[in-house]
Amino acid sequence: MSTRKKPEDLRSFRWFGTTDIRSFGHRSRTLQMGYAHEEFMGKPVIGIINTWSDVNPCHTHLRDRADAVKRGVWAAGGFPVEIPVMSVSEQYQKPTTMLYRNFLAMETEESIRSHPLDGVVLLGGCDKSTPAMVMGATSAGLPFIFVPAGPMLRGNWAGKVLGSGADVWKYWAEKEAGNITEGQWKDMENGIARSYGTCMVMGTAATMMSHAEVLGLTLPGASAIPAADSAHPRMAAMSGKRIVDMVWDDLTPDKILTRKSFENALIVHMAVAGSTNAIIHLIAMAGRAGVPLTPADFDEFSHKVPVIANLRPSGAFLMEDFFYAGGLPALLKQLESKLHTDAMTVSGKPLSHTIGLAQVYNDDVIRPLDRPVSSENGLAVLKGNLAPGGCVIKPSAAEPRLLKHTGPALVFETYDEMSAAVNDENLDVTPDHVMVLKNSGPVGGPGMPEWGMLPIPKKLLKQGVRDMLRVSDARMSGTSYGACVLHVAPESYVRGPFAALKTGDLITVDVEKRSISVNLTDAQIAERIAAWTPPDRDYPRGYGKMSAAHIRQADQGCDFDFLEGTAKIKEPEIH
Ligand code: FES
Ligand code: MG
Repeated sequence: MSTRKKPEDLRSFRWFGTTDIRSFGHRSRTLQMGYAHEEFMGKPVIGIINTWSDVNPCHTHLRDRADAVKRGVWAAGGFPVEIPVMSVSEQYQKPTTMLYRNFLAMETEESIRSHPLDGVVLLGGCDKSTPAMVMGATSAGLPFIFVPAGPMLRGNWAGKVLGSGADVWKYWAEKEAGNITEGQWKDMENGIARSYGTCMVMGTAATMMSHAEVLGLTLPGASAIPAADSAHPRMAAMSGKRIVDMVWDDLTPDKILTRKSFENALIVHMAVAGSTNAIIHLIAMAGRAGVPLTPADFDEFSHKVPVIANLRPSGAFLMEDFFYAGGLPALLKQLESKLHTDAMTVSGKPLSHTIGLAQVYNDDVIRPLDRPVSSENGLAVLKGNLAPGGCVIKPSAAEPRLLKHTGPALVFETYDEMSAAVNDENLDVTPDHVMVLKNSGPVGGPGMPEWGMLPIPKKLLKQGVRDMLRVSDARMSGTSYGACVLHVAPESYVRGPFAALKTGDLITVDVEKRSISVNLTDAQIAERIAAWTPPDRDYPRGYGKMSAAHIRQADQGCDFDFLEGTAKIKEPEIH
């Protein structure tokens, strides 16, 4: 490319290439680490932002993958430096990793800006780590490439294939109903997570890694490679090799992340029946790229694209099967007529190039458009007097009878209250009730925990009931399913109309009409809210206090208000 940079154009030149007293320090301290001048002088410095941690089983292999990336960077004539950041471990971090998505986004952005880097490789994949790192790196603005952690192997128990999360919910319900024994349940524990890597259903992790790929932020085919496959370290090494050229070519994220690329992500989202969490994340990621995106965009695309990836929790297969069937490039091939194939990718070539190399090896897993998995939309955004800012439901994961339903509300103010009630076998509840959980939004949760798949009351489980209409201002795990209306905005805690709900109110949901309402007048709602006191969620100090003061509502992506947008931050002074 004619615009290729020269060594003195590199950002890191300001640290290493000058002759002032500071640059003496930068060079002598690099020599202190055992590197010779010729190993780093005049070379692109590549930051490897790593979310490896001993408390994140999805990222166990990222320690080794950083080495593979380094191998690629060295081979291409770059200088790799690894920088650890918070891991946002979905399984262990409480109250919810969502509280820390913006923390990791800030840490990524500031780690990039403050160090002598020219390009960046991001290592992550467990749920929030993908959007967080992409948000931060987009705002930092240097060329970057994403190395997705990749899914773990298929689960295996008693001859059955198990999927992360989805089968845990399913068999827990069977255990609660008395259909499987404690011993069988214990056995499942040994077989459900068989290797490092992310959840292997089309949950939040796989959805976000797919988004990263279709947005053009990974090497072609990277997002579905199983973490334990030898193709994975090869992909990591090739990413390290590629980022060096991206630096010389100045392939910055603003050339990749455009309205077109985000529309491509919306198309893939619908085709894979992606996690509802991705709505929030994609809106936030687009916000950092200066691309306006709203829940209405998701709804619009849900009418245009059927579900063609036959993956749990909406379909039958797992990510390992998806990889063998051709992975994301094969899915893109099926969707070619709908995509903006001229969108640029980190490979330096447009999406059409990725599609040109693709082949579908199993068209039961990756279906053609005329033989979809589900004629139901992957996603619907509902509005009404209960949720003026909107809320979402995944119709493909719900029992059809609940997609048009009116029933009496059964309202819980807190998670604990709800938890105790569902175990009470004398609870006054029928399959027609609409279970409601308040105070679980971005501020009230805090951090919008994944409580949205409220457990079916034990009494009903024993009667064979497996789905009910449920409404909350929470999120739900991407591995969850059922008629769960989520992300009610504005949340109850900030005194949205949702706060007014009481047990016995009649809630009507009509997915076809995209509506949700309660049989209350505006005046009744206002009167009830005035008399309502939210539970105490006060943080006297610290990060939680900052989050509560600055977090946006779900329909706006839950970014912090001061992190949004594309206003240029000037390069740090080097004194
Ligand atoms: Fe890490 Fe699911 S727990 S991806
Ligand atoms: Mg999850």
